[in-house]
Amino acid sequence: MTVPIKPAVQTCFGCPTVRVVELESTNDLARALARAGVREGAVVVAERQTRGRGRMGRPWASPAGGLWCSLLLRPVRDDGWGLLSLAGALAAAEAIEEVAGLSPGVRWPNDLLVAGRKVAGILIEAAAGAAVVGIGINANVKADDLPAEVAARAGSLHRIAGRPVSVELLLRALLARWAVWYDAWSAADLRLIRAWSGRDLTRGERVRIAVAGAALEGTADGVDQDGALRLREADGTLRRIIAGDLLEVSEP
Ligand code: BTN
Repeated sequence: MTVPIKPAVQTCFGCPTVRVVELESTNDLARALARAGVREGAVVVAERQTRGRGRMGRPWASPAGGLWCSLLLRPVRDDGWGLLSLAGALAAAEAIEEVAGLSPGVRWPNDLLVAGRKVAGILIEAAAGAAVVGIGINANVKADDLPAEVAARAGSLHRIAGRPVSVELLLRALLARWAVWYDAWSAADLRLIRAWSGRDLTRGERVRIAVAGAALEGTADGVDQDGALRLREADGTLRRIIAGDLLEVSEP
């Protein structure tokens, strides 16, 4: 792979920041901005989303109290999108660490968990030659404001840390950490994989993964340099999963 030349001027993430009280999805507005030719670095933040979406077309409950935002990118690389989402997970994990004092682990490809509960997720979408990174962090959402099946698996930083978490400080920290990891991604810097691996919760665990309509089982064996999950099957075969959905994790 050729290492792209880094732009001389670093993008300012959050320039501009478009703040909305309520919309369907920040990713939709960021994609519309991309189509309108808005430059890299624009960020859309909403207090609430009425049709927030997650990976695999799932709904993403987004009541008041969370950080729901989307970043507009015009990447120098047209490959490596799997790694780009790992960069988003890392930036979110470090922002949570800085602001809430909690240390999230990552579950491939980009769920963030604290104390076994999902506290954040990342959704990357293409938009007219640009990319949009949607990041949702459950900062202070009350369990009562979430559908029961979501509340059973999700956790709020407020509840886990035992104190409210400033969404504004979280956004600021997120954009600062994102700038660092986006830069690393743009330069194909392997520190990105190392940092992600340091938080990997699934390595060595038995997992079941949905891939193109089939379910594969095996032991998670970390991620490759391109962000693909390494899955060791019972007969020793090593599979590389570039895109899939982790259905289940169980003790080895
Ligand atoms: C996932 O874990 O499935 C990804 C969730 C991504 C949610 C964020 S919230 C901000 C942005 N807007 C959306 O509609 N989705 C992403």
